[in-house]
Amino acid sequence: MKPKKIHDSVLELIGNTPMVRLNRIGAGLVSEILVKVEYMNPSGSLKDRIAVEMIEQAEKEGKLKPGYTIIESSTGNTGFALSSIGTLKGYKVRIYETMPGKAGAEKQKMMHNVGAEVRLMEPADIEHLRERSVAGSEVELPGRQLCLEDERAEPDKIWWARQFSNKDNVKAHHVTAREILEQTDGKVDVFVQSIGTGGSLAGIAEVLKKEVPNVKVIGIQPASSKELWHPGMDFPATETKGGIVSAMLKQQGLIDVLVRITDTEARAMTHRLWQEEGLYCGVSSGANVHFALEEAKKSGGKKSIVTLLCDHMNRYLTEERYVT
Ligand SMILES: Cc1ncc(COP(=O)(O)O)c(C=O)c1O
Repeated sequence: MKPKKIHDSVLELIGNTPMVRLNRIGAGLVSEILVKVEYMNPSGSLKDRIAVEMIEQAEKEGKLKPGYTIIESSTGNTGFALSSIGTLKGYKVRIYETMPGKAGAEKQKMMHNVGAEVRLMEPADIEHLRERSVAGSEVELPGRQLCLEDERAEPDKIWWARQFSNKDNVKAHHVTAREILEQTDGKVDVFVQSIGTGGSLAGIAEVLKKEVPNVKVIGIQPASSKELWHPGMDFPATETKGGIVSAMLKQQGLIDVLVRITDTEARAMTHRLWQEEGLYCGVSSGANVHFALEEAKKSGGKKSIVTLLCDHMNRYLTEERYVT
């Protein structure tokens, strides 16, 4: 099909992101590192893919109706993608920070600038939440707990996207996987991705594991994460916890390896991507490439190691932190 010269809407620009070989960072290696440039999505991150899929599916199922407010707990990328697509479609959008201090200054401003209501948190708010905890649970995911409270209070006015457990988050990334297969002619030996909700890793792994014999799938956790995950872990899911990550870890053979990467390692590789490759990505992309390079160095024979550049450097000007 000939590429369209004029698009009817910015929504048509979501997905079909380019893939680039790392020539300098990968210099001298037999294997190649291929990065899929997800920051070229319209809102600057991979989260456009899931935002449009979750919103349009909820509309079809009658869960999201005109006049509703879309809510979510986010460190900012899903928040901004929902804010931009949600306001474009005429909805109000309210984004809660996941926990105090997690949403960077640029992401807060971007969400606010496109018309979303941004609710930040103070450490004292967590204590307050603990007192009226809905599930009597530990308040380690306060943003999600606030979304649950809002949803229960006004079920006819609010749609909580529930990205951490929404099946359409995973489904949106089946498309990402198909694009990867097409761009590499099916030659993917290793796939590496940082985990937030787990939607991208689970969705891409589900397709790759079906289509590519012996593909190795590696997940990365920020070393700052409180919970230590491992493949095969029996991790309970509740209304505010677990979701895609717990299903993904339990599913035998989906994820082969889980590693942890520090802020320092992630930041150092992010700077190399900016300075040596002209790829203006965020810090989780640096974490991805840091580990992709480790794999490339140790692999015997020519392997294709694929990873994602999840978001744009423009949201890390004030602070360079590895958050997912
Ligand atoms: C910058 C960044 N990298 C990676 C991820 C991981 O994506 P996912 O939620 O699909 O696990 C996210 C989102 O959580 C993110 O915001």
